[in-house]
Formats: sequence, C-alpha cells, structure tokens
Amino acid sequence: MQLFDEVGSTNEVAAEQARAGTPSGLVVIAESQTDGRGRLDRQWTSPPRAGLTFSLLLRPRAPVAHWPWLSGLVAAAAATALQERTAIDVRLKWPNDLVVGGRKLGGLLAEVVDDAVVVGVGINVTTRRNELPRTDATSLALEGAEATDRLPLLVSLLRKIGSDYVSWNDADGAPTNLPQTYRGLCTTIGRRVRADLLDGTQLEGEAVDVDAHGRLVIDVDGEHRPVAAGDVVHVHPGAP
Ligand code: BTN
Repeated sequence: MQLFDEVGSTNEVAAEQARAGTPSGLVVIAESQTDGRGRLDRQWTSPPRAGLTFSLLLRPRAPVAHWPWLSGLVAAAAATALQERTAIDVRLKWPNDLVVGGRKLGGLLAEVVDDAVVVGVGINVTTRRNELPRTDATSLALEGAEATDRLPLLVSLLRKIGSDYVSWNDADGAPTNLPQTYRGLCTTIGRRVRADLLDGTQLEGEAVDVDAHGRLVIDVDGEHRPVAAGDVVHVHPGAP
C-alpha cells in the first residue's frame, strides 16, 4: 500500500508501478490529487479531507477478453459496500458511475497498462455542495449518511472489491453472478438515454440491457445497438 498526502494522480502512480513490475494488489491512496483524472479526458477534483481517492493495480490471470468486466466488478462491489456501510441507496449509472438518486457520488477510471489494469476510484464522502464540481454531483454526507468516517469506509470498500476480484480471477473471469449483480444495481437499464460514441456518432433510445460483454444495449427504433464505450446521458435523470 502506498499513501500520499498529495500526488498528481493515484492512477498515474499505480501505472508507473505497473510498468516497473510491481505485483498485483498494490493500493495507492492519496489525500488529494493535483491532476485527478476522470473518464473521457475529464478531471476529477476533490478537496483534501472530503473524499476517498485510490487506485488498485491488478494483474488478472483471467483472459483479456474478460477484462472489460473488471471496472463493472469494482463499481458493483463499491456500490454494495457503500450501501452496507451507510444505508444510502448507492447505484450505478452505466458504465461505472456511482450515483444516488441520479446524482453522481463517485466514479471509476480503469486503464490497461501493459499486462496490468489500474482501476482508480473517487468517492465524495463529506464534500460540501459548494465544493462539488457539478450541480448534479453529491456526497455521502449530503445524502444524509451518518457513517462518513473515511477509514472504515475504505476498509469496507477494499474488502469487498478484493474478495469479489479474487472470486472472479480464480474463475478465470468466467461468467459468474457478476452480470446479474451489475444489472440489479444499474439505474441506466429501462431509461431513455442519449449516447455520444467515441467515433462522434450519437444514439438515442431506451437502454434495455447490459450484455454478457458489459456493453449497454440501446433499443433505437426497435434495433438493439450494443455500446461498448462512450458518454451516456439519462434523458430524464430525475425520473424514477
Ligand atoms: C469519472 O467519473 O470520470 C472517473 C473518476 C475517477 C477518479 C479517480 S480518483 C482516484 C483515481 N486517480 C485518478 O486520477 N482518477 C481516479
């Protein structure tokens, strides 16, 4: 485990360690980041003392074809651990945003580095409204959680993520109950969504499933279109 008061990005530190050959299981934790990164070239900002900011270095023995599920595994484990610890209904927005009632509580950034995967997790714990970067973001404290001590939260998160990862890896990434668990937590399924794909095209329709490869399946005028990566917006985010 590596602990930093301040660092550029925990993902970057874990990636350097991956390139240096550090074994699987390293956890890099920072109180604050000066260059916190999000998906799709976005930033992740969180003031010191307010959040959880960590990255895992994993070297799955599961075949690469199954790696796309890894971020879903970590996201589902994080949502479950937070639900158990705080009694807040933390769910997932595809692919791996942690959300509460349509507001973003946290997110994941998974990056492949040589034969390793770095999965970074950022969670707003006691962040105040005026410290959040977006009006549709939230924190555990703002959602009314009483359990906001970060150390026990971190321990619960790492335990759950670790045990789910070991089960998945021991099964060589073979289908387990992970897709079912993920689908049960995912608030995107059943919603009208707009997807901006990486090639610049846009799809709009109803999200009907997350398939065996972790892709979001969107029904566009009766045609089922699987989406592997992109920016997905819930068209009516507040709707039940
Ligand atoms: C997103 O929602 O776009 C992903 C946010 C991921 C943020 C975490 S914080 C720890 C790790 N280090 C980073 O630079 N990013 C991830």
